[in-house]
Amino acid sequence: MTIACPTATDVKRANRRLYDAVADGYEVVDGRRNEALAQWIRGRLSRLADAHGCGRLLDLGSGSGVVTREGRGLFDQTIALDLSPAILAEAGDIADARVAADTDALPIADASVDVVTCFAVLHHLFDAAGLVREVARVLKPGGVFWSDHDMDLTFYNRFRWPLRVYRRLRAADVKYVRASTDIDAETYALAEFREDGVDGSRVMGQLRDARLRPEAKFHWFGLTGLTNSLFGERSSARGWAPLLSITAVRE
Ligand SMILES: C[S@@+](CC[C@H](N)C(=O)[O-])C[C@H]1O[C@@H](n2cnc3c(N)ncnc32)[C@H](O)[C@@H]1O
Repeated sequence: MTIACPTATDVKRANRRLYDAVADGYEVVDGRRNEALAQWIRGRLSRLADAHGCGRLLDLGSGSGVVTREGRGLFDQTIALDLSPAILAEAGDIADARVAADTDALPIADASVDVVTCFAVLHHLFDAAGLVREVARVLKPGGVFWSDHDMDLTFYNRFRWPLRVYRRLRAADVKYVRASTDIDAETYALAEFREDGVDGSRVMGQLRDARLRPEAKFHWFGLTGLTNSLFGERSSARGWAPLLSITAVRE
């Protein structure tokens, strides 16, 4: 059955179903979490902790913990939060606390977090408004939000044809559907709700409205070994690199 006009609830249900189903093998199915990416994340977290505080790290949509594992030793407390209870259970000892919750309603006290991260998550949301509202609430003044590794809409619009070929060859959708009988093509498509790009300008506007000061960068790091060696950690102009990276400081 195809849902003609999906709602936020449909998208959340699909995400929970997808990540519950691949909970015991997410990083293998995904195929992009590796040591180079982990080291890069650790470097970013280290700089954020130095500049904005090393008390508490909250990772939204933590999955199997690629961010919180790297936050160990950099922060006094790490919290992994995800919609999928199964992926948190399977992930084991990835953080000081594991919380099954929705980014739209964080069970976290006001102004209690130094660094909120969100890695490859924005494109799984129906809308980022709830997440932004909650991030603004839980961050301490001077704290920072860092979101990364979502496809930027401008890049998608410019390169949609080569991207379609690349995606056909990479066949991530086929891999997920094959990984579990609980996943079908529609569940995958709904979970990857903004697979064709996150509107970074809209998210930046939402962050500004919530009294954060956002900055966006666009880069290639972490896609493949080849793009890592070709582009390294260099930033590009909007539309010339696929990965949207946003940092936003709470006033
Ligand atoms: C592509 S995975 C990324 C996981 C991890 N951050 C990583 O990079 O390996 C997206 C994650 O976001 C979670 N997610 C999707 N929608 C969510 C929501 N509304 N609230 C909390 N987590 C959500 C999914 O369950 C999934 O674990």
